[in-house]
Amino acid sequence: MILPSKEIVDQAYVKDYEKLYKEVQEDPEAFWENIAHELSWFKPWDKVLEWNFPYARWFVGAQCNIVNNALDRHQKTATKDKLAYIWVGQDKSERKYTYGELNEQVCKFANVLKSLGIRKGDKVSIYLPRIPEQFIAMLACAKIGAVHSVVFSGFSSEALKNRILDAQAKLVITANAYPYKDKVLESKKTVDEAIKDIPTIEHVIVVKRIESEGKGKETSIGNEVGQSNNSNNLTSSPNRPPNPNLMTAVRDLWYHELMAKTDTICSTEIMEATDPLFILYTSGSTGKPKGVLHAHGGYMVGIYLTLKWIFNLQPDDIWFCTADAGWVTGHSYIVYSPLINGATTFVYEGTPDYPHPGIWWELIQKYKISKFYTAPTAVRAMMRLGDEIPNKYDLSSLKILGSVGEPINPEAWMWYYKTIGKERCPIMDTWWQTETGMQMITPLPSSPLKPGSANKPFFGVEADVVDDKGSPAAVNTQGFLVIKKPWPAMLRTIYGDHERYKQQYWSTFPGIYWTGDEARRDEDGYFWIMGRADDVIKVSGHRLGSSEIESALVSHPFVAESAVVGIPHELKGQGVVAFVTLVSGQAPSETLKDELKKHVVTQIGALARPEQIRFAKQLPKTRSGKIMRRLLRQIASEGKITGDTTTLEDISVVAALSQDEE
Ligand code: PRX
Repeated sequence: MILPSKEIVDQAYVKDYEKLYKEVQEDPEAFWENIAHELSWFKPWDKVLEWNFPYARWFVGAQCNIVNNALDRHQKTATKDKLAYIWVGQDKSERKYTYGELNEQVCKFANVLKSLGIRKGDKVSIYLPRIPEQFIAMLACAKIGAVHSVVFSGFSSEALKNRILDAQAKLVITANAYPYKDKVLESKKTVDEAIKDIPTIEHVIVVKRIESEGKGKETSIGNEVGQSNNSNNLTSSPNRPPNPNLMTAVRDLWYHELMAKTDTICSTEIMEATDPLFILYTSGSTGKPKGVLHAHGGYMVGIYLTLKWIFNLQPDDIWFCTADAGWVTGHSYIVYSPLINGATTFVYEGTPDYPHPGIWWELIQKYKISKFYTAPTAVRAMMRLGDEIPNKYDLSSLKILGSVGEPINPEAWMWYYKTIGKERCPIMDTWWQTETGMQMITPLPSSPLKPGSANKPFFGVEADVVDDKGSPAAVNTQGFLVIKKPWPAMLRTIYGDHERYKQQYWSTFPGIYWTGDEARRDEDGYFWIMGRADDVIKVSGHRLGSSEIESALVSHPFVAESAVVGIPHELKGQGVVAFVTLVSGQAPSETLKDELKKHVVTQIGALARPEQIRFAKQLPKTRSGKIMRRLLRQIASEGKITGDTTTLEDISVVAALSQDEE
């Protein structure tokens, strides 16, 4: 157990977690209501929570807009002249926005969207790399009541297409191309490919991130951490001539041209607290990705408080969250919460290893970053490179460190604590999900820490570990992680699919929210998250569904059937292994393995590229025909199976699989 220093406790918002947690649990609604009073509302609520199982409506009757809190209210205070963002490009170019300047850009872009017919409730897809326009576009949508659907720029055209179709977006915002290490990725071409059969897209707005997409020269404007494989997007060689056909007349419009002609004044739309703010697609254990829907009111209250208290946010902090706004971490803790809190956020466009593996530490030294939030995969990658690299830099500005996205193993935790935090900075290992919207199980700066444990539930969060019948699991016994009461940033539903929402989250253990994770709780009440219990695979913290990768493989003409499992991976947490049976007449080969890996990249994105393809004559199935992934997982990670195989239809299949080579 690592105890907090007196200095940290003295500075912390919360000094006695246990006492406050107990108090809040007696009346969580009163607690959240008090916190909500710290924010601006156009009209107060009639009721804090209306819980109509399984739908929670927070701050019913209230009117608000998250942008009113993120930007508008700061325009009347000294925060107007404070820096909201410090953005640094891969080429080290800088762009800085005060709250006043950011507000002006957002107002202008909101007017652009309105001039193109975007109205309250319309859906807008945002497919941008990590540049300020990504944040401006999100905020402009929210300001006018449009619902944004940000798609991570590492997804392929096929994945983008499915997300645009499901959200029924009218407009797409992208970049012409952008630098990615020493390549140029042509995101506009990916969009063209995605929307060629979607006639409902009225316009594509294109940000010019690169002077000419063929030349690879960056203009002076400006992913999830650890991710170094965006190369599924079309790339161009540095010397190819500019593409004269980039823009389709009428449909495609340059961002800078639209912004040059528009007004800087725009009123913020009055929204019901329960109105939708965004859709964010995430993978589940079955079927296509789910559009997780979040609303303005409850979400803004939940994310506002968690960042403030968990990272002890202070006015002079420089906050660096290494995620991408294509994922929920970026939505909540790069865009909305830091702005609501009036913080200064630092953003680096590039990857953690480019142009050199010490780039993050160099940036922390140069910009005096005080709070740093990243993913275990990145920590493990840095740890592997040794202490010499971070030791070259002055990291004394750091005060609190954070971790998110996957379990952090104690060894990586200790390295992060000692080598980066110099044993001065507590590590906030925050457990949460796209669906929860806000951090849910986490230490606070004043908490005693256990390396590898996500600590205890945040105030008002009633988390538990249960057995397969839904009864509380015994101390130190692995079970299923559930949440027993609604919380403010909770998802509203799955967009367009209420039935799936009920099934997915509220049916496994009737009446309580099922997270999909396995966990145990120790004798001190600390939670230890073990990983997913369902068929979701976490590669470098990115969430992928086995069934999504399987459908991608089966869409290849040579593949008859496939089963995908996750196996432990030293660096990435988990790696993807695909078992594939071929249609008759096709023979396994190394070339085909490569082709299938590439096929997955084209269908989903480089983040889903299988580590291994294993050809099999048959897959192990139960008598009712269900593929036994548990056996495949064992075969892939241990090379053999142990345990119960009584439901297996044909044991010889397993014997054959175990002998098959990678
Ligand atoms: O399995 C848990 C893991 O990430 C899942 C949620 O993934 P996603 O919706 O993509 O959101 C990631 C960023 C919030 C969870 O079900 N996870 C997230 N944080 C942790 C974690 N596992 C262990 N420890 C964490 N701190």
